[in-house]
Amino acid sequence: MRKGIWQEFDGYQDIVEEIKVSRKLGGTIAPAMINAEEYIRQLHPDRLELCVNGIIEETPSTKTLRFVSKDNYLPPFLAGQYIALYLEVGGIRTSRPYSISSPPNQTGYYDITVKRVEQGLVSNYLLDHVNRGDDLVSSGPQGNFYFNPIIHKSTKICIAGGSGITPFMSMIREIVDCGLDRTVHLFYGNKTDEDVIFHEELTNIAKRFDNITYLPVIEDPTDDYSGACGFVTSNLIRELLGDIEDKSFFICGPQGLYEFCLPELEEMGIARRKVRQEMYGAPLNIWEYPGWPEAVNKDDIFSVKLRDGRQLEARAAEPLMVTLEKNNVVVPSLCRSGECSMCRVKILSGKVFQPAAVPVRKSDKQFGYVHSCVSYPIEDLEILI
Ligand SMILES: Cc1cc2nc3c(=O)[nH]c(=O)nc-3n(C[C@H](O)[C@H](O)[C@H](O)COP(=O)(O)OP(=O)(O)OC[C@H]3O[C@@H](n4cnc5c(N)ncnc54)[C@H](O)[C@@H]3O)c2cc1C
Ligand code: FES
Repeated sequence: MRKGIWQEFDGYQDIVEEIKVSRKLGGTIAPAMINAEEYIRQLHPDRLELCVNGIIEETPSTKTLRFVSKDNYLPPFLAGQYIALYLEVGGIRTSRPYSISSPPNQTGYYDITVKRVEQGLVSNYLLDHVNRGDDLVSSGPQGNFYFNPIIHKSTKICIAGGSGITPFMSMIREIVDCGLDRTVHLFYGNKTDEDVIFHEELTNIAKRFDNITYLPVIEDPTDDYSGACGFVTSNLIRELLGDIEDKSFFICGPQGLYEFCLPELEEMGIARRKVRQEMYGAPLNIWEYPGWPEAVNKDDIFSVKLRDGRQLEARAAEPLMVTLEKNNVVVPSLCRSGECSMCRVKILSGKVFQPAAVPVRKSDKQFGYVHSCVSYPIEDLEILI
């Protein structure tokens, strides 16, 4: 190229002047960059200021909270994603992820649908103490439990349990609202027929749309119930669908659902890596996991020393993050399931137990970082946050 040819380009002098001004005043030379940064911040905000605009009683144990934005703007999301609510309950500053149950085409609000967990800190607070007009803070939409047309087949077999219906509700609502060319076969397991969330809406959708089928499956039905009973088994899926070729599998719900249904899918020849599985919190019975040291009892207490000299008491069966939160030490968090890596802390001495499936980066392993939401003390610890 001829030397100095760029000096002949249109606008060259303007750019030179802008660079001069920028160097002198320390500003950016590209106003467009500011717009791009602002745009990215709007798409992926760290925090959302929300207000409860409505509360819908779904079942005796479940409510939908409808949030609108206090800034009149909610970032777009993909059906299946979640927000993490940040709140203080009983003096403990904590967070909990909740899938958005409203569809992404509904841009005016986010719905989350919360099911009561016995003794649960946040679910009980949200159900019993949050009212219309209350303000809450959340993360922006997060997570990768969504339909990806490059990877997934347009026909999905979805298995939900209890409150795990919420991401599927968002997906199904989007499909029918927007007329998307996708098919969903939904199997939805619950303890009793009274626990089934969105039953009427799902029944109506399945009646109206050929591309949505819906089968509730009840473990312990009342006398009035006449549908499928028991659990979502491979036989049930085969009976209803016959051929499972060319279909993608999605599953979301409490731990028991995975423990039962994943082996059932394997029995049908579906490898685990082919099943899109939503994380659903820290393991409930960590001491039953492979690799848990026999010598450690779930109720053993270990000490956790912080860099500021404080010494905390930690129960072996409780995630390190929960111990920290109970002691007013807040670690950044989103998924609370070991996936997002927001909650990493460095173990300076001592050992924690982390389930083998937790996706820890090689460099984190090398330098002693763990995901505190799914790490359990099995020795006295010294940590760096
Ligand atoms: C990505 C993601 C999306 C989620 N979406 C939803 C949703 O749409 N609706 C919803 O209701 N929940 C959802 N959850 C679960 C939610 O984040 C909380 O874990 C749940 O509300 C319980 O919180 P808690 O503070 O009441 O219970 P905690 O005080 O955290 O726990 C109390 C006890 O219950 C156990 N426990 C915790 N979670 C569950 C559970 N889900 N089922 C049974 N036992 C449990 C704990 O191990 C503990 O023993 C989601 C979780 C994840 C990771
Ligand atoms: S909060 Fe996501 S890995 Fe711990």
